[in-house]
Amino acid sequence: MQGKVITVLARPNLALVKYWGKREKGKDCKYTSLNLPQNSSLSITLDAGEELLTRTSVVFSEKLAQDTFYLNGKKQDMKSPELKERFLAIEELRKLSGVGTRALIVSNNSFPTASGLASSASGLAALTFAASKALGLKIDSNKLSEITRIGSGSACRSLFGGFVVWNRGKLPDGSDSVARQVFDEYYWPELTTLICMTTREKKKISSRAGMRQTVATSELYKLRPDIAEEHVKEIIKALNKKDFEALARVTMADAMNMHSVMLDTRPPIIYLNDVSKEVIYAVEDLNESEKRLVAAYTFDAGPNACVICAESDADKVFAKLKGVRGIEKILKAKIGSSPKVLSDSESLINPKTLEPKFALEK
Ligand code: PMV
Repeated sequence: MQGKVITVLARPNLALVKYWGKREKGKDCKYTSLNLPQNSSLSITLDAGEELLTRTSVVFSEKLAQDTFYLNGKKQDMKSPELKERFLAIEELRKLSGVGTRALIVSNNSFPTASGLASSASGLAALTFAASKALGLKIDSNKLSEITRIGSGSACRSLFGGFVVWNRGKLPDGSDSVARQVFDEYYWPELTTLICMTTREKKKISSRAGMRQTVATSELYKLRPDIAEEHVKEIIKALNKKDFEALARVTMADAMNMHSVMLDTRPPIIYLNDVSKEVIYAVEDLNESEKRLVAAYTFDAGPNACVICAESDADKVFAKLKGVRGIEKILKAKIGSSPKVLSDSESLINPKTLEPKFALEK
């Protein structure tokens, strides 16, 4: 059977309350992780136009001898442990659909992969969204979120637009550990994110390996799940009131709490660099001189800062960040929407030859 080529566009998300740590333990969970988190997390989906997105085309066909995956023009090694883990999500979708044929997947990120800019979130969300459609599956967003989480924890949040909570859940099979939208992308349109790119380098330690190490070795981490759970409640309260200062306070506290447990890991994990530190000082300085919280910084597993502010303050915050030496580029993002299926003309796969459409990197 030759399935249809489905092409999807998905956007990354930025966690205001971070996911850092899985609740599974034991040696044998290395490649079979369900990615069940130690705490709930809360994110905003980011829309920076053409700048921050993943486009992925997927086709299942019996003409294909094996699964093949091209990322940013480069054929990927399907035997790599990381890819095997991510493809567990595809295996789940295959099982559900009863379709056993192999897949060709072609994916492009319009931003640096694995540099702490949530490429795995938009990448996996685009992949599972497209694959579920290419397999003709009619599953609800709960089920797709559960399956996407297996490929990448934070990706289950990128299946939704607006403000999204990934609930920790309690069940050992993970069926209640899914993401849901709390407010859509039109709820608070003034909210703006300035993404400060300080490096395009790949991070030295993947978030998957890093959080495993933190859970295993950090003493401080014992406090983290309850603190994060409290932060989710506080952010939802702030969102209900559209209270920017409360949102800013908790966002900064949560990011610094996560980076503290990273530092408390043996050996320590340090994703922030000198430029990240300068961004922290610049934002603190601005907030102090304005006598209110104008902006909030947050960092994922990388040095690139994301600074949140109201659109009416964006010029002021931008000007302040421009003064930080080492920032290569500042991208402006608004609150983004859920993944969408693109037209056949935007496909990255030639349906006749079952080959990628673009020139391949050697
Ligand atoms: O889902 P992963 O394995 O890419 O981990 C994401 C970890 C952070 O970006 C640091 C936090 C988060 O909640 O997105």
